[in-house]
Amino acid sequence: MTENSVIKLSHVVKKFGNDTVLDDIDLVVNTGSIVGLIGPSGAGKTTIIKTLLGMEVADGGQATVFDQTMPNRQLLSRIGYMAQTDALYDSLSARENLKFYADMKGLSASQTKEEIDHEAKVVGLFEDLDKRVADYSGGMQRRLSLAIALLGQSELLILDEPTVGIDPALRRQIWKELKNLRDQGKSILITTHVMDEAELVDDVALLLNGKIIAFDEPNNLKTTYKVNTIEDVFLKAEEENQ
Ligand SMILES: Nc1ncnc2c1ncn2[C@@H]1O[C@H](COP(=O)(O)OP(=O)(O)OP(=O)(O)O)[C@@H](O)[C@H]1O
Ligand SMILES: [Mg+2]
Repeated sequence: MTENSVIKLSHVVKKFGNDTVLDDIDLVVNTGSIVGLIGPSGAGKTTIIKTLLGMEVADGGQATVFDQTMPNRQLLSRIGYMAQTDALYDSLSARENLKFYADMKGLSASQTKEEIDHEAKVVGLFEDLDKRVADYSGGMQRRLSLAIALLGQSELLILDEPTVGIDPALRRQIWKELKNLRDQGKSILITTHVMDEAELVDDVALLLNGKIIAFDEPNNLKTTYKVNTIEDVFLKAEEENQ
């Protein structure tokens, strides 16, 4: 194992009934890198994340975060997790939601205030912080979930389709922040269906039929598949593996 890996899945198998969703998955995320997990809907991206976080129990193999098996309370404060489904308090304002999660992460009062302002700006919600979440649009709720995951300067971010319903300009701003965090040495595992975003990661993991069929830098993948975009890599890989 590489010494600086933050996430490590080794021979992970996950079945739902007779359906093998994850079939001998190996995946590593190294410190200070962004890994993009892509694959068709239903490929098992969310299942990988849930297994990693101990929200699903693997039927075989091993998944570790910071060399330990999840769930592990001590590790939670080191991980910023954004689920595919928003978990927000509808009747509270965005600011109250952020305060609640900042509290759970153990942030001090001054840190909380500073970070709420910063993260709200990153996701373009600064002006709307005092609106009730129930009155937020779907995209705004998504952005709030991302702001929550970013709270607390976690060493590791695990983001399950964070940019769904987010417009291109704001997406660009969010990616700028993710790259900043990466440059500061944080590690990020992100899933996406937006192929432009898959161009921006350090390594792409392509999940198909329960297996990681490719793991490499975007440019290397394009060379290997003899195409010009990650979208074409995706389409070609799908075609070849039918
Ligand atoms: N709790 C569960 N019980 C039974 N089947 C499940 C469960 N969770 C996921 N599955 C199945 O596992 C497969 C992978 O689902 P998963 O949510 O991991 O896909 P995904 O790659 O995240 O898809 P999407 O891009 O649509 O989010 C699907 O066939 C799904 O129906
Ligand atoms: Mg999913």
